[in-house]
Amino acid sequence: MYPEVIIHNSVSLDHAVTGFEVDLGLHYGALLALEPGAVLAGSTTAKTGIELFMDITLPEAEADRHRPEVRPDDRRPICVIVDSRGVLKGLLHFYRNMEHTKDVVVLVSETTPEEYLEYLREREYPFIRCGGNRVDLRGALWELGERFGVSRVVSDTGPELNNVIIREGIADTISLIVHPVVVGEGEKKLFGRAGGRVALELQKAVPMEQGTVHLVYAVKK
Ligand SMILES: NC(=O)c1ccc[n+]([C@@H]2O[C@H](COP(=O)([O-])OP(=O)(O)OC[C@H]3O[C@@H](n4cnc5c(N)ncnc54)[C@H](OP(=O)(O)O)[C@@H]3O)[C@@H](O)[C@H]2O)c1
Repeated sequence: MYPEVIIHNSVSLDHAVTGFEVDLGLHYGALLALEPGAVLAGSTTAKTGIELFMDITLPEAEADRHRPEVRPDDRRPICVIVDSRGVLKGLLHFYRNMEHTKDVVVLVSETTPEEYLEYLREREYPFIRCGGNRVDLRGALWELGERFGVSRVVSDTGPELNNVIIREGIADTISLIVHPVVVGEGEKKLFGRAGGRVALELQKAVPMEQGTVHLVYAVKK
């Protein structure tokens, strides 16, 4: 089963994802309202999140080495992280302890270092190995649907991974919370390397707090 894929970002008016203060309440409120079965992030986003919002020196506890029991009635999404190079080795316990997600699944490839796979196995992190050099996202998402029953994925990541999702024609919907600021040069901007033209259809344009606007577009296929 292929899950539906929604890209969700908070952006400046000049489509940057960095260089301004994201309204986290609005960002996650709108994300959870999309009722995702899984929230997807790339390894850079995941590592930056730890550096920005957590104490990266906090060591792993013994309890962190075991997969939590996931109850069938738990409606929280799974956290899914693309990490073919093992960037998050030694850091995944931060994501295992997140309150808004119930489990962590890692997407890796054939070239992922064996020592990272061993780190995942020892700590009971489920992983999907799909793709040669990088993760084959389409194949990995299909397996995510089959193995974990995920029918909707919200991609809460930066431009690099979201560009791939657009380029490979995987995105069904783009949800943007536009913040009233122009950040100018030197910041990470969405869709700069998303390939050719992609036609969209506006589904929703709702003014929100603090001058932000929530825009939702369907990707025309
Ligand atoms: N404002 C917002 O809404 C928002 C949301 C999320 C993040 N951010 C910000 O965005 C920044 C990070 O963005 P980023 O673009 O640098 O990183 P990113 O979106 O995390 O992208 C890096 C990931 O893309 C994967 N990737 C790259 N090319 C690929 C390919 N061809 N096939 C498969 N996977 C591929 C990499 O895989 P490998 O594992 O192979 O390296 C890596 O896991 C951070 O500053 C973060 O704070 C902002």
